[in-house]
Amino acid sequence: MKIAICGLGRAGKELLRTICDEEDISVVGAFCRLNSDKAGMDIGMLAKLNPMGINAVCVTEAERVLGEEKPDVVIDFSNPAATKMLLMACKKHNIPAVVCTTGFTEDEIAWMKECVYGEDFGIVYAPNVTVGINVLLSMLKSATRGLPYYDYHITEIHHNKKADSPSGTAKKIATLLERELHLEPDEKVPVHSVRAGGFVGVHEIMIVGEHDRITISHESFSRQAFAKGAIEAARFIRGQTGWHEMEDVVTCRENVIKVKV
Ligand SMILES: NC(=O)c1ccc[n+]([C@@H]2O[C@H](COP(=O)([O-])OP(=O)(O)OC[C@H]3O[C@@H](n4cnc5c(N)ncnc54)[C@H](OP(=O)(O)O)[C@@H]3O)[C@@H](O)[C@H]2O)c1
Repeated sequence: MKIAICGLGRAGKELLRTICDEEDISVVGAFCRLNSDKAGMDIGMLAKLNPMGINAVCVTEAERVLGEEKPDVVIDFSNPAATKMLLMACKKHNIPAVVCTTGFTEDEIAWMKECVYGEDFGIVYAPNVTVGINVLLSMLKSATRGLPYYDYHITEIHHNKKADSPSGTAKKIATLLERELHLEPDEKVPVHSVRAGGFVGVHEIMIVGEHDRITISHESFSRQAFAKGAIEAARFIRGQTGWHEMEDVVTCRENVIKVKV
């Protein structure tokens, strides 16, 4: 599978390192910010690997590079402005994308959905691409069925350089809980955000009744958890069209495991 990457920050570089261990995947393009110092640099060197013979190119060049290199999938860990430019280029060439970038407005998410509607183009929108978080989401669905009258509180903890707050994952958890608990539109599940040191990502949900409490918590120990999930999503969306989320990727994975068993 041929992959192009957008965003060569902490997550993008980890993705590059993880892809190097996957025998059937090759990187054919990589995009950085306009006027970034990384433009023109070998991406292998950027990720502290051996040179890969591929230089980072500004995302403004995405349409040309995708047309020339024809990757099977593009994986995005960048910034909402870059993602928009990238998706327009992907759509032009019908190359599916895994969008792991966070911090989009509701309007931007609606725009992304419109991009795939009725088109020969597919997106996996993955504000948390970690497979473990997506299993946590299904655990929460059963918690809300058993404990609909308990109080639900979300705490998310990330490193002190994270740009958006609350995290995309915390928003996704809150939306799921509000839907499953049938809350009124003005009732919100509280989200507490902590930005400190080098935390990779913690999401903890406290479910509290008068006499007892359950805590469900997920912690990513390394960015490899994101990279592995993004690769799994890329394998899923390759050759597919339409709007998908990680739930679809995880369901597909569960079905494969059932068949194997
Ligand atoms: N879905 C998930 O599970 C998950 C997991 C981890 C991270 N993320 C998200 O992925 C994104 C990147 O995270 P990170 O930790 O790698 O952040 P980071 O280290 O700050 O890196 C951000 C990258 O985006 C690039 N960028 C910024 N603005 C840009 C623009 N306008 N055009 C093109 N590229 C631009 C930066 O380029 P320069 O280096 O050239 O400045 C940098 O390479 C964030 O939105 C983060 O929340 C999601």
